[in-house]
Amino acid sequence: MIEVSHLSKHYGDFIAVEDLSFKLVPGEILGFLGPNGAGKSTTMKMLTGYLRPTSGEVRIWGNDVWSETLAAQSHIGYLPEGAPAYEEMTPLGFLKFIAKARGLSGEARDQAVSKAAATMSLEGVLHQKIETLSKGFKRRVGMAQAILHDPDVLILDEPTDGLDPNQKHEVRQMIKGLSEEKIVIVSTHILEEVTAVCNRVMVLAGGSIVSDGAPEALLALSRHHGAVTLELPDISDALVSSLDSIEGVSALEREDDRVTLIPGEGITDFFARVMSFVREQDVQVNAAFVEQGRLEDVFRKLTEGETQ
Ligand SMILES: Nc1ncnc2c1ncn2[C@@H]1O[C@H](COP(=O)(O)OP(=O)(O)OP(=O)(O)O)[C@@H](O)[C@H]1O
Ligand SMILES: [Mg+2]
Repeated sequence: MIEVSHLSKHYGDFIAVEDLSFKLVPGEILGFLGPNGAGKSTTMKMLTGYLRPTSGEVRIWGNDVWSETLAAQSHIGYLPEGAPAYEEMTPLGFLKFIAKARGLSGEARDQAVSKAAATMSLEGVLHQKIETLSKGFKRRVGMAQAILHDPDVLILDEPTDGLDPNQKHEVRQMIKGLSEEKIVIVSTHILEEVTAVCNRVMVLAGGSIVSDGAPEALLALSRHHGAVTLELPDISDALVSSLDSIEGVSALEREDDRVTLIPGEGITDFFARVMSFVREQDVQVNAAFVEQGRLEDVFRKLTEGETQ
């Protein structure tokens, strides 16, 4: 497992990361969210032993990242921000080189390289210099080197940034399909990605943790949690104001042919109330659903004013 205690990184007077403590156990897929400059990449660099903390400690499967660096790093696959690689190498040469550095040789090395290359659909570019690859393919090469040695811990800094929709889907499926024995930490600015792949979400702002919990718990903080959205074929101002007057509605939002009704505090039978109004008034409705909440609302609420 991963144990982080009182981890901080200061640059002179500037505090990039301040006093982070958390634990991760196998099976956890942690989404790291936060505005630009929140400290996500800095934290990942400290977790992987690439950046020395100002204070605090990180243990990976019991190994201290600073005093037992190689032992700790042998558990980790890391895709750094921007997916750096040796540009003059080919993906095949680069992956073989990484495999060797990971202690693989012979048949095991070849198998690991072809499996990682196949997972990231790199077969067509294996012999082309990395510097001539498109941005998305460079990132795929970075992903392939991260998963090459089948690590217990995968730390992925914006893995789907710049990927086309098919590859985004592939990477998400790959992360979701990893065994329950593994720990994954993934940073992203794509909020749907968090609900799609993560079972825990940590929000960082200004270098500190402002929220940590299950995605559902985060969604429950949204003002749209439990809201009812109706798709209406014949929307009129009169209809909108009558919907707004349903008892229990605290706010109404209108967008194109959709109306979203937001429940007041403590109202539990909101959907039933709205639907009985719809039936009684014989309102034509194409679709009606209850919202789980919008991560974007929560993200903004938690990190407002923190973007640098
Ligand atoms: N070497 C450095 N010297 C001074 N400040 C630094 C240094 N490296 C990072 N920082 C600062 O630390 C803060 C955290 O940066 P970090 O890269 O961790 O943010 P992030 O959450 O990954 O943001 P993004 O979403 O843009 O990737 C930023 O304000 C950054 O400018
Ligand atoms: Mg970053």
